[in-house]
Amino acid sequence: MTDKRRNDVLAWIRDAHAMEAAAVDNLERLIGTADDYPALQAQLKAHLIVSMRQREEVEKVLVGLGTDTSQIKDAAMRLGGQVEQLLSRFTPDSIPKNCLAAYAYANLEIASYRSLLGAAEELGMATVKTMCERFIGEEQEIADFLFDNIPSITGQYLRQRPRA
Ligand SMILES: [Fe+2]
Repeated sequence: MTDKRRNDVLAWIRDAHAMEAAAVDNLERLIGTADDYPALQAQLKAHLIVSMRQREEVEKVLVGLGTDTSQIKDAAMRLGGQVEQLLSRFTPDSIPKNCLAAYAYANLEIASYRSLLGAAEELGMATVKTMCERFIGEEQEIADFLFDNIPSITGQYLRQRPRA
């Protein structure tokens, strides 16, 4: 297949797969630090299940478009490593900072799927377009929860902090 436009879009879908794989890792870690925040923890657990399913759906789309699975794994490892680096700088180990990173990440996902949606429209890839529309709604849910709850989560964090 020599169509450059199609190759671009395939690369972007592989990036989306890597993004979901990294999201699963990040969420698993974050859930483990959220025992004192039951509402947050429940949302994160729900979004973990969503992200695992999204990762599988993206993989199926890729296989359907003729990508072999070794290429998928390589991309996942590469982007996963970059995200790790970003978060390690951005995130000292505290719940408020972890929530900021999770909020930023959800919005990165939204922007990525908005972009892929435009690509899918342009190339007439109806399945990809429908998938993007659904995923955008799912990411918006966790982003909205974090947006609404970051102030109270931060307040609770400070209340529970030893004063000296
Ligand atoms: Fe996601």
